[in-house]
Amino acid sequence: MTREQLAQKAAVFIGEAYYELDKTEAEAKRRIEAVTEQIERTGSYEHTYEELKHGAKMAWRNNNRCIGRLFWQTLEVFDARDVEDELQAAERIFAHMAFATNKGKVRPAITILPARSSKNSMRLWNHQLVRYAGYSTMDTVVGDSSSLAFTAACEKLGWKGEGTRFDLLPLVIQKGDDQPKWFTLPANAVLEVPLSHPTCNEFEQLGLQWYGVPFVADMELEIGGICYAAAPFNGWYMGTEIGARNLSDTDRYNELPNVAKLFGFDTSTNTSLWKDRALVELNIAVLHSYKKHGVSIVDHHTAAEQFLRFEKQEQEKGRLVTGRWSWLIPPMSPATTGIWHRSYKDIERTPIYRSQPVPY
Ligand code: ARG
Repeated sequence: MTREQLAQKAAVFIGEAYYELDKTEAEAKRRIEAVTEQIERTGSYEHTYEELKHGAKMAWRNNNRCIGRLFWQTLEVFDARDVEDELQAAERIFAHMAFATNKGKVRPAITILPARSSKNSMRLWNHQLVRYAGYSTMDTVVGDSSSLAFTAACEKLGWKGEGTRFDLLPLVIQKGDDQPKWFTLPANAVLEVPLSHPTCNEFEQLGLQWYGVPFVADMELEIGGICYAAAPFNGWYMGTEIGARNLSDTDRYNELPNVAKLFGFDTSTNTSLWKDRALVELNIAVLHSYKKHGVSIVDHHTAAEQFLRFEKQEQEKGRLVTGRWSWLIPPMSPATTGIWHRSYKDIERTPIYRSQPVPY
């Protein structure tokens, strides 16, 4: 990006953000002048905390794949641009995790580490801060197959897991081009939920569990032309993410056959709809268990209703709601939600959370 392009992006962002924050045009103009001057002099510029905070919220609001955007204004933004090494970064991330987990009453939050262009730039190797390891042995996988490559990378760095289906992976932080450092997650940063079913007592025998809070760690946050390569954020789970994908996809935990067997569904024919029935029971167990353990979770019907409220709210503000329909519809009974019957323009707008190349 040239200096002119950066100055242009910065000006557009400041114009929009300052308007939304009810600042005067004179204030925006003064700030754009200062930023332009800083870019000409140093090649970059620094966000004020207020800009960082509002930019991160706008990026959530702009995320085409997120059904939970009604709550974009509640995001807690932790400014960690001052960290100088991996250990300091880990400490700030663990503090974020404890804050967000909040003993189960989950609070959406983000921690923003030094920008890509700064001398202390960091990159997290994890896909999510909490994630289960995956090990392949011969032709079977133990644990989460979506973690195979990252688990192998951790082992190469000297980490070793116990080899269960639910081993917690370490936090892996890389500063610049240095050798990455890994850190075991402290107990107060992770909450886990064993799965049980409201009416089927034998369900616990499946030995299933999941972690309480999804913290996405591998996306880059771009605000006004500045790229934050490490900006882990979290919301709370929607039940189907766990029950209709993580635990049921055939290339993940593939638990539908086990659930069907437990409930005595006829798995010899598709027409018994055993997969559909098992899906429903597994998803009931997920919602029931999180509720029982006091961990925030939303069902897909409520989340879809909240999304329609978000659309209305945005329309009232005169803003266009963009979206990727295939991501917004839930993976279970999608046509029972209002989102199914609507369409969205999948246009990218900044500030934005975007995926970036895998570093290992
Ligand atoms: N789908 C991912 C998972 O199942 C989590 C993505 C973020 N989800 C969220 N509710 N904020 O782990």
